[in-house]
Amino acid sequence: MQIGKPKVPYLAYSASDRLCTYQFNNNLPGGVDTFIARTKHMKEKGIPAEDLIGYARSLKESDTIWQNGKYFGFSYLPDKEIIQARRKISQLFEGGSTLNPMLFHSLSKMEKELVTSIGQLLNAPKGFGGHFTSGGTESIILAVKAAKEHFKKRSLDERMQVIISDTAHPAFQKACELLAVDPVICETEEGYQMNLEVLKSSITNYTGLIVASAPNYPFGIIDPIESISNLADQHNIPLHVDACLGGMIIPFIEEITGAELRFDFRCHGVTSISVDLHKYGYCPKGSSLILYRNHDYGSGQYFVTEAWRGGVYGSVRITGTSGGQTLAGAWATVNLLGKGGYRKMTEELISAYHYTLSRIENSKDLQLISDPRLPIISFKSDNVNALLLGDQLEKQGWYVERMAQPDRLHIILAKNNISKLPELFDAISGIIDLEKSDSKAYYRNIRILKYLFKLLPHTRLELLLKKFASKNRNENKRWIYGLNGPLVSTKKKKIVLKYLLKNMNALDH
Ligand SMILES: Cc1ncc(COP(=O)(O)O)c(C=O)c1O
Repeated sequence: MQIGKPKVPYLAYSASDRLCTYQFNNNLPGGVDTFIARTKHMKEKGIPAEDLIGYARSLKESDTIWQNGKYFGFSYLPDKEIIQARRKISQLFEGGSTLNPMLFHSLSKMEKELVTSIGQLLNAPKGFGGHFTSGGTESIILAVKAAKEHFKKRSLDERMQVIISDTAHPAFQKACELLAVDPVICETEEGYQMNLEVLKSSITNYTGLIVASAPNYPFGIIDPIESISNLADQHNIPLHVDACLGGMIIPFIEEITGAELRFDFRCHGVTSISVDLHKYGYCPKGSSLILYRNHDYGSGQYFVTEAWRGGVYGSVRITGTSGGQTLAGAWATVNLLGKGGYRKMTEELISAYHYTLSRIENSKDLQLISDPRLPIISFKSDNVNALLLGDQLEKQGWYVERMAQPDRLHIILAKNNISKLPELFDAISGIIDLEKSDSKAYYRNIRILKYLFKLLPHTRLELLLKKFASKNRNENKRWIYGLNGPLVSTKKKKIVLKYLLKNMNALDH
């Protein structure tokens, strides 16, 4: 079967190939073409297990291999023994649902134990509460819902505003859209931290929630949470700390290094914290926690209705039925590792972090973007465009996230990738050396062009140079987070991206 032509004209380079592969490439090894016909539409007779397992394996071959240590984002794997043991435990809870705590006492107990353990790790005071959720986004949506319920009780105003900075995760904007509240986005100051002056001037009678990050995803920088907390306290406004990324690592960094990174319930104004277990908690994907200083305030995330011919309905999360395995897998991971396990992994990460900083600082070609204190590190090169560098790395089998504003590479160190760091930085140096000689020729051409076009009107010259640059370089691309592909620059990015998502998810009837 042939690989189809790209339907999406806005994607460039390898990403379009990958998306096309994703959508159209059924040309899988092992003669599985015949399978497509058998699984595309449900048949009368089921497929024998062995056959289907074989087919599933071959389907998987078209996936990215992210477990090989060459992925510096989104992959957090504990040791094999932990994975094997947690699988055995999570299998026991297959079929159970967290929607029915009275039927599945076990799941309810596990959830409470996880909330208690991690709440204590984050210095939650007596009376705290929280829930297990499917990920950071769900935790964040629930935190905004709880704040909205609180706001409704206190204020006659119809609309609520949530103050976030431009580095806060887009999940907050999603939450605002879903819950019909208004995001007020503050520009961060130099150093990519929330700007306190801008925050102060953004507070109004409509402010129902302030958001800070520990750390933000794009730069790995922790906002000045203690000062934000004091401000929130003064104004009596709830403060949510998004510790999805840092919640399971900062406490251990503080313990090991003695650094005080006060980001959690030690700051009195902090009302709620989201913490992802599927990141530095090394738990199965689909596990996060939302924690509240006060259980009563947190119950604002619940949904109940009587207006239903099935009886009354109540649910504590966004999801209704949700499987018990992930919760059990997360509970198992946290308990198998214990504080000692997390501490040991964090120690390894701290030395990998220093190694990474030294490779960047000792390189003539690389520059740190900010002053990272966590193993989430952004850097660029003055000599080679970062997106181009990322593309070249990808061709060599590395995955390093590309980010915009400013263009840069972004690496997240984790237990499962740090052994490959020396190799990664050697690969980066090799590519930069090659690019530098290529770009000499490129900039020479630009100089010639400039000279040749001296006689043309200025605007025409700009246009031609732009065209030349965009054809040859990567400077006019914007990286799409999550989709892992660049979007060709256009003023209508939102429309194009929605179109792209619609296209990618269209069924191939
Ligand atoms: C700081 C931060 N908040 C929220 C999220 C959203 O988490 P999820 O993708 O699990 O929904 C992320 C994900 O990377 C994150 O880094």
